[in-house]
Amino acid sequence: MMETQNRSKTLLEWLALDTLVAWVRDLEVSSHGLSWSRFCGSLSLVLVVLLFISGAFMAFYYSPAPGAAYDSVDYAQFNIPFGDVVRGVHYYAWNLLLVVVGLHLLRAFFVGGYKPPREMVWISGVLVMLILPAFIITGDLLPWDQKGYWSTQVRNSIMSSVPVLGDFLVRMLQGGPRTGIVALTRFYVLHTIILPGLLLLFIAVHVHFLWYRGISGPLAGEEGDQQKKVPFVPNIVNRWLFLFLVVTVVLGLVSWYWPAPLGDPADPTDATYVPNPEWWVLSLNQLVAIFKGPLTVIATAIIPGGLVALIMALPFIDRSPERHPARRKKTILIGAVIGSILLALALMGYIEHHLTPLE
Ligand code: HEM
Repeated sequence: MMETQNRSKTLLEWLALDTLVAWVRDLEVSSHGLSWSRFCGSLSLVLVVLLFISGAFMAFYYSPAPGAAYDSVDYAQFNIPFGDVVRGVHYYAWNLLLVVVGLHLLRAFFVGGYKPPREMVWISGVLVMLILPAFIITGDLLPWDQKGYWSTQVRNSIMSSVPVLGDFLVRMLQGGPRTGIVALTRFYVLHTIILPGLLLLFIAVHVHFLWYRGISGPLAGEEGDQQKKVPFVPNIVNRWLFLFLVVTVVLGLVSWYWPAPLGDPADPTDATYVPNPEWWVLSLNQLVAIFKGPLTVIATAIIPGGLVALIMALPFIDRSPERHPARRKKTILIGAVIGSILLALALMGYIEHHLTPLE
């Protein structure tokens, strides 16, 4: 036993990892980090890891060229052992991540997690959140099926209605006026290299500020240094590993029984295909339906841009140190009104696009 310990110590020294391992072993975090009310932060982390792993497996089979992309996805999904599970896990993980990150943001909003000294934890969180739609938009085109192709056309036309930058952005994204081979290559590079790099960077910034500022204490409890500490290893790490196992098994089973959708191959000449907006974009889509013609810019740039700016600036607008939601009625009410409007728009969109039969 003693000899094994000595050997692993020598190996760590030889790899120059001994100081790092000792540092991690001695790390302590606030015991409130184990509270199940913080479940969504840990779950987001686990889902991001799962997305990276399943994405890497899919990349082994994927060919980013219009003539081959669809067949490569179809082959990996239906002919490779567990190919449908891997693609399904990727598909369900990003859907779940959107919900979980949304709940994580809501919790931070309710318990005043954005208040000083955690302004940068909040701002870096907003940056992480803004990257997620970019992942979905670029990923949607990769299978080169009807839904992905025609959803990209709709998004391009929405994007080009943004004044000054819109047209330029669409041309940059596609590498030309049409969604062809250059567009697919660019979407692939963005989805597998640039965006993952940015996501890791922003998550690292998020964790960095969390580390230095500490998590907030219970609403009726101690703050900062006064909180009880628990060792990071094994307490927090075990929780993450347990979550990872459970989520992988559950999403694996879901994908096994309900495989991720793959429509017909893209047909750029079939302009009769109308893609249904996905759940996460329903409220924005409904705004675009309300503000038509010259007013489109209100729906595509002014309202979403204003909302993002408001969320980003929240720690500087709501400056009182009070964290308890019952004593922050005005802020909670404004949040509830904005949330209800978005929900109502999404419901309207759902009824219009998913429940009303096409004439
Ligand atoms: C992939 C995305 C994200 C990951 C992996 C992530 C991860 C985490 C983790 C592990 C924690 C510590 C545990 C907890 O308090 O839940 C945390 C705390 C926090 N996060 Fe995130 N987060 C993400 C997105 C966001 C977003 C979108 C926001 C808000 C805009 C945000 C704001 C915060 C705040 C304010 C805290 C501190 C809460 C407190 O101490 O009460 N995070 N995050």
